[in-house]
Amino acid sequence: MAVTRTFSIIKPDATRRNLTGAVTKMLEEAGLRVVASKRIQMTKEQAEGFYAVHKERPFFGELVDFMISGPVVVQVLEGEDAVKRNRDVMGATNPADADDGTIRKTYAESIEANSVHGSDSDENAKIEIDYFFDEKEIVG
Ligand code: RTP
Ligand code: MG
Repeated sequence: MAVTRTFSIIKPDATRRNLTGAVTKMLEEAGLRVVASKRIQMTKEQAEGFYAVHKERPFFGELVDFMISGPVVVQVLEGEDAVKRNRDVMGATNPADADDGTIRKTYAESIEANSVHGSDSDENAKIEIDYFFDEKEIVG
């Protein structure tokens, strides 16, 4: 299995509850390595651009407002089959449906305030990494 990269966000509900370390520990224990990380306050424009694929969905406005409601930690994660590995440890979008031992089952508050984002394909991982990071900020 190839070593690949994915993009992760620790969302405002998790940073607010001081869970940056706890979430990162679960990512690391799942075999992912944090090769870039920064805590940022997203602007409305940044959040709208990031979630542009969802702009027709009924929850778009609320999602953008939530994502700018506090700081987030954007990260590049590296590991074998990183996109799938990350989504497996994240768990289902709705924490009520997430498996035991996943980040969302353990920490998420609701389907929206669900603690983490993870890219859903290698192609989107590259787009999302490039949206927040310069290549020189990524140190494997
Ligand atoms: P993510 O993109 O954040 O990793 O999550 P995901 O793939 O599991 O879920 P996605 O369908 O891409 O939805 C993106 C984010 O929108 C919020 N959401 N709210 N109110 C709702 O029904 C609803 N559905 C989705 C969640 O924060 C979800 O992570
Ligand atoms: Mg998604």
